[in-house]
Amino acid sequence: MSILKIARMGHPILRERANEIADPQQAQIQTLVQHMLDTMIDANGLGLAAPQVHVSKRLVIFSITEEQAEYYDCEIMPLSVLINPVLEPLSDDTNTDWEGCLSVPGLRGRVPRYDHIGYRSISLEGKVCEREARGWHARVVQHECDHLDGILYPQRIENLSDLIFESEIKHHIGSPDDNEVARK
Ligand code: NI
Repeated sequence: MSILKIARMGHPILRERANEIADPQQAQIQTLVQHMLDTMIDANGLGLAAPQVHVSKRLVIFSITEEQAEYYDCEIMPLSVLINPVLEPLSDDTNTDWEGCLSVPGLRGRVPRYDHIGYRSISLEGKVCEREARGWHARVVQHECDHLDGILYPQRIENLSDLIFESEIKHHIGSPDDNEVARK
């Protein structure tokens, strides 16, 4: 098991556009995915993008375990590995909800995201996968793919009063501004 160091907001790698992966089946990529998975589990995160572990590659992983789904009141998601993902909104509708990020520890922000997206990526076996996503699944994919373009969620917040300390989230759960419960 390898736990990698997570880059925090301010590190230049988090502001760069990450590089395409030429060969998803390369042993180096398989090893990187395993190390990212170890790191995400250790940090109790829902998703992780390669630039967050100081690797400029277009690779993200995410999963929501049964326990996390119950805690965050969202659907369970099996582990997904997206290589060179490309996403597009399938409707102009958006929703706003709380997000956190392992690169922005201790904070939470209310971030608008598209409700319904389509995305295409390559699997570790080199196959093209196309999926549609809504709700929390769509939110996680948009958050993680933003990392590949050098964007952190605070840059998406419309009103900076929507950026708060995690320890104060209890004051915001169920407020009229929130359409759903607070989530990591
Ligand atoms: Ni993040």
